[in-house]
Amino acid sequence: MEDGEVRRTTTASGHPAWLVGGHGTVRRLLTDPRLDVYHEDPAGAPRCFDSGPFGPPQQWTPDAADEHLRMRRLVGRSMSARRLAGLRPRIQAIVDGLLDDLAEAPRPADFHRLVSAPLPPLVLRELFGVPDDEGADFDGWLHDAISDHDPGRMVRGITGLSAYVGTLLQRRAAEPRGDVPTDLAAAHAEDPESWTMERLTRVACLVLLAGVGPTMDAIDDSLVRLSADADQWAAVREDPELVENAVEELLRLSAITAAGTRTPFGIPRWAATDVTVDGTTIRKGELVLLDIHAASHDERHIAEPDRLDVRRSGKSTLIFGAGAHYCLGAPLARMQLSILFHTLVGRFPAMRPAVPPEEIRPRDPRLAVGSTGLPVAW
Ligand code: HEM
Repeated sequence: MEDGEVRRTTTASGHPAWLVGGHGTVRRLLTDPRLDVYHEDPAGAPRCFDSGPFGPPQQWTPDAADEHLRMRRLVGRSMSARRLAGLRPRIQAIVDGLLDDLAEAPRPADFHRLVSAPLPPLVLRELFGVPDDEGADFDGWLHDAISDHDPGRMVRGITGLSAYVGTLLQRRAAEPRGDVPTDLAAAHAEDPESWTMERLTRVACLVLLAGVGPTMDAIDDSLVRLSADADQWAAVREDPELVENAVEELLRLSAITAAGTRTPFGIPRWAATDVTVDGTTIRKGELVLLDIHAASHDERHIAEPDRLDVRRSGKSTLIFGAGAHYCLGAPLARMQLSILFHTLVGRFPAMRPAVPPEEIRPRDPRLAVGSTGLPVAW
C-alpha cells in the first residue's frame, strides 16, 4: 500500500474502517492527536474485534487524555532506565534457568512452552516483586487474561489478576519495596483522591497485560525467523555485537497482523473530529486501522522488506507504535529479547525449527503472530 493511500475496508467483525499501510503515513497518523483511542459511544463504534486490545474504543470524557498522560508519567517513572538496569542480572538468571530446562528436554523440544511463554511472566514477577510461592497463580492469571479470543477465560484471568494486584498494592502501602506496586501505592498516599486504589489496580493490570502477550509473540516469531535462517543465525553467533541490530530487525518483521493475508488489520484509532488525510476525509467517529505490519514491509521505506538481515541498522520498527500511546515497555521488551538471543546463539549454536512454518499455529487464531507450540531441534 502506497504512502498517503487511505483505503475503505471492512473489518473481521463486519464494521467499516479506513486502512492505512504506507510507513510514512502510518507513523504520521500514530502521532496525530485528531486520531485517538476514545469514542463518544464505544458500544456503537466500529471495531476490529469484539474484545481485547483490538476491540472497542475507550469511553471519551473531557479528562480522558489528561488522565492518560498522568498514567503514562507514573508508569514511565516506575519503569525507569535505572530500574530496568537493575533488573538485567535477574533477567539473565531467568533466561539461563529456562535455557537449562530447554537443554535437558527431549528433542524436539517445545520452545514456546519452555521459553517464550514463561519468560515474560517471570520478568513481570521481578518488576512487581511477586513472591515465589505466589508466582504460579500470577502466571496462570496472566496467561488466562491475555486469551482475548476466549472471553470466559479472559474474564477469569482478569478477575484473579485484579484481586491479586489489589492485595499487592495494599501490602506495599504498608511495607514499601523497590518495585512498581510500591511506586503506585506511593502515588495513592500522595493523592488518594485522584489515584484511588481501584484506578491504580487498573493501571497495574494494564502494564501486566500489555507486557505479556506481545512479548511472548515477539519471542516466538523472532525465534522462528532467526533459527530458520542458518546464515543469519550464524552471523549473530559469530558476532554477538549484532544482537541489538538483529532484535530490531526481528521486531520489524514480527509486527502484528491478522490471520489471513486479506483480513484488514492495524492499530485502531477513531477520528475525534473530521480529518482529511491526503485528500480523503475521515468523518468524526470513524475507525482507522494503522497497519504497522504493512508499514514495516513498505519497500519505499526499507529495501527488500521481507528479507531478514540482521546487519540492517536503524530503529525503524513501528511494532511499539508511536506518539501518545507509544509502548511504555519497549525498553524492557528489547532487553528481554536481546538477553535471550545473546544467550541462545551461544548455548544452542545449531538450533533450528523442527516443523515447517505452516504447522505452527498462532496463539490467537485471529492473528498471525505468536504460537501455541514451537518444536525446535539442535
Ligand atoms: C515485543 C513486545 C511488545 C510489543 C510489540 C508492544 C507493543 C505495543 C504497542 C503497539 C502499543 C501501542 C498501542 C497503541 O498505540 O494503541 C503498546 C502500548 C503499551 N505497552 Fe507494549 N509492547 C510490548 C511489550 C510491552 C511490555 C514488556 C510492557 C510492560 C511491561 C508493555 C506495556 C505497554 C503499555 C503500558 C502500553 C500502553 C501505553 C499507553 O496507552 O500509553 N509493552 N505496546
